[in-house]
Amino acid sequence: MNKCYCFFSRRYGSRIMESERSINRLILLIVILGLVYFCYCFYYATLRWQEDDWNSKPAKKIDHLYLTDPDVKAIHERMVAQDSRLSSEITIVTAYYNLGNLNKGKKLGLGGYTPEQYKNWMSVFGRIDNPLIVFTDSQDVIDIFTESRRHFEPERTKIVPLNRTSLWAFSLAPRIKEIFSLPGYPSHDPNTVNENYSCVMHAKFELVSKVIKENMFFTKYISWLDIGLYRAIVSEKHIFPIRLPPGFDQDKIAYSGQHKFDSTLSPYQIIEEDKTWVGGAMFLGRPEVVYVYTQDYMRSVEKLLSEKMMSTDQQVIYIMFQPSFPIQPRVDIQIYTTHSTDDWFYLGYTIKETWDFHLRKTASLLKFLHSLL
Ligand SMILES: *[C@@H]1O[C@H](CO)[C@@H](O)[C@H](O)[C@H]1NC(C)=O
Ligand SMILES: *[C@@H]1O[C@H](CO)[C@@H](O)[C@H](O)[C@H]1NC(C)=O
Repeated sequence: MNKCYCFFSRRYGSRIMESERSINRLILLIVILGLVYFCYCFYYATLRWQEDDWNSKPAKKIDHLYLTDPDVKAIHERMVAQDSRLSSEITIVTAYYNLGNLNKGKKLGLGGYTPEQYKNWMSVFGRIDNPLIVFTDSQDVIDIFTESRRHFEPERTKIVPLNRTSLWAFSLAPRIKEIFSLPGYPSHDPNTVNENYSCVMHAKFELVSKVIKENMFFTKYISWLDIGLYRAIVSEKHIFPIRLPPGFDQDKIAYSGQHKFDSTLSPYQIIEEDKTWVGGAMFLGRPEVVYVYTQDYMRSVEKLLSEKMMSTDQQVIYIMFQPSFPIQPRVDIQIYTTHSTDDWFYLGYTIKETWDFHLRKTASLLKFLHSLL
């Protein structure tokens, strides 16, 4: 009897100790998770604390260029003369040139962007309620855009068949290929490996410049948009407009900010370390300002080629804004960022978020009114 009681109490005691131990373990786990979460938040908080006074610089003015640059003058005169007739919307310019499969966007060495994926992303353009100009040399892309934009007024969509062989950007391919093949040249696939990828990035600037110079638009603002920018909302259904971002500076070009600007980098260092400052997927501004910007960009590309250096638009932009670069941009960039170092597409999404917010407000107001009935 005695023996039996003793046995029971020992077992009972060890069970208490075990449950105490597991509670302690749970507490420890919560403390560790809490610490990890705190470090995560603290890291992003420090990114925001770092002073970034880039946007506080006053914009460079381009008025003096009207005297010396006949193209800029002509564009400006058109903008002034047609001011009352031009819509205050934004004309979106995009393009698609099939480069085959790209070594980009891979996860654990698998995947990579395919032409099918780009076609899937294109569907979002059927929901963007802006005047749109699309350049391509693929009939299937013409068909996709024709179909997906059918519900808009026909004049809101201009699809321009344009062979890549007639573009300045693609004419650079042999020179870029030669540079990428130099012994010891940095190898970041596709940025400094696939010459066609580099070319198609430069084509953005050429095409936007063409749209402005050839009066292909009837709005007060113009924007470049990569096919893939709105990839995260492919499954949404509602139509939305792209409008000016909050606090937009009329004399600057709006971009998403990816990393803090470092003014001490050499062009080669930016290419070698594959550095980025802004995300190249979208830029936006007044036509005169954007035109000057595209001219400076294309001159910077030529300058870099002559020095046997090249990568994508994101590196060219970072390089041309370095104080030591011989071609100094005549207009400034306005950065939109949350300082999270993952803001590649932030400009586009903050514009859409502003619109969606207004949608949500309207929806709740409607619900409220409905509840009164
Ligand atoms: C583009 O032009 C090249 C040469 O000029 C030609 O070989 C090619 O078939 C053209 N492509 C398209 C899609 O028209
Ligand atoms: C670039 O395009 C040209 C012409 O279409 C092609 O011959 C070449 O193989 C392409 N280069 C790469 C790296 O895909």
